[in-house]
Amino acid sequence: MTAQLLSPARLHDLVLRNHMVMAPMTRSRADADGVPRASTAIYYAQRASAGLIISEAINISADAVGSPLTPGLFSDKQIAAWQQVTSAVHEAGGKIFAQLWHTGRVGHSSVRGGLLPVAPSAVAIQGQQHFTLEGMKDYEVPRALTFSEIQAVIGDYRRAAENAKRAGFDGVELHAAFGYLPNQFLVDSANLRTDEYGGSIAKRSRFVLEVMQALIEVWGSARVGIKLSPVIPFNSMIDSDPLALYSYLLGELNKLQPGYVHLMRALFPLDNFPHWPRDVLATFGTQINSPLIANGGYDAASGEAALRAGEAALVSFGTPFVANPDLPERFARGAELAQADRATLYGGEDAGFIDYPSL
Ligand SMILES: Cc1cc2nc3c(=O)[nH]c(=O)nc-3n(C[C@H](O)[C@H](O)[C@H](O)COP(=O)(O)O)c2cc1C
Repeated sequence: MTAQLLSPARLHDLVLRNHMVMAPMTRSRADADGVPRASTAIYYAQRASAGLIISEAINISADAVGSPLTPGLFSDKQIAAWQQVTSAVHEAGGKIFAQLWHTGRVGHSSVRGGLLPVAPSAVAIQGQQHFTLEGMKDYEVPRALTFSEIQAVIGDYRRAAENAKRAGFDGVELHAAFGYLPNQFLVDSANLRTDEYGGSIAKRSRFVLEVMQALIEVWGSARVGIKLSPVIPFNSMIDSDPLALYSYLLGELNKLQPGYVHLMRALFPLDNFPHWPRDVLATFGTQINSPLIANGGYDAASGEAALRAGEAALVSFGTPFVANPDLPERFARGAELAQADRATLYGGEDAGFIDYPSL
């Protein structure tokens, strides 16, 4: 039933032991300096039977940080700690990409040394609050980046990509989904700029494309992926015309030939957006020339079906990997899956992190 999912796969020059990807998951267990703790290497090595692991989102700079205890890839200590992680995964026969993160306005000054979050425009997230060490807080109006600051942020992505190489990762993924900085540039409710980085769809797409170009210059196109969530309104990611926006973006991405495009399906109710596409794979999958990683609510049966239908090259699983470190083996045996304890998803110590047993 899972023959294709569990069979070896190729991602360009990389040979993967199966078609299963561990989706990126923030676990908020780094130290106060954004250094992953020793348990992080154990956690990822336990999950190395995935064909490919995408790391939790990793801050590209101090200014990229939006949430407490999230790791970075901009100091020597952080790089050294990630080296331990990638070595452990490689020793266990796995492959691991680093997901590169700038949170933009999805942060709070109280976790940023008093500095306001930055964003394309001074527009706050509505109707949600942000987790801080002092409790939940309303979102602030972010400070709009200047043109030259945008160039500096692109430079930060490039440096983080170089650091990912030094840390021994197998590639990098740009986190351009779920409302973080690259996503904020794309959508017209968050990006009100009137310079070269805002306005038309082409100008709103420019930041993402320039960052991808920088990452590709460091890694080569085959080792650079991008995660997109075209129809997820979370974090006030409300665009007037996602079909036009993402059709343009995917067309331009095709020219860069990224190693893969990682697409999140619509996981949130879309009742307020009757004109948005519902079926992400049917609408956008066919516009993508790179291998497609499908994500969002898959299990063994639906993941296998997506591969068999030719809808996806690989399928990624997030939540199922939290409590089932040996998820491919469980799929192979048709075993029942353990459920993750939601209370220990973010933050804390080893409990709910490295103590979920394999079969
Ligand atoms: C605890 C947790 C943390 C997450 N952190 C990230 C993240 O850092 N980067 C990201 O792109 N997605 C993140 N996600 C989203 C997952 O990568 C994935 O897109 C989502 O969980 C849907 O896949 P699933 O249904 O297989 O869980 C996170 C999800 C969970 C449950």
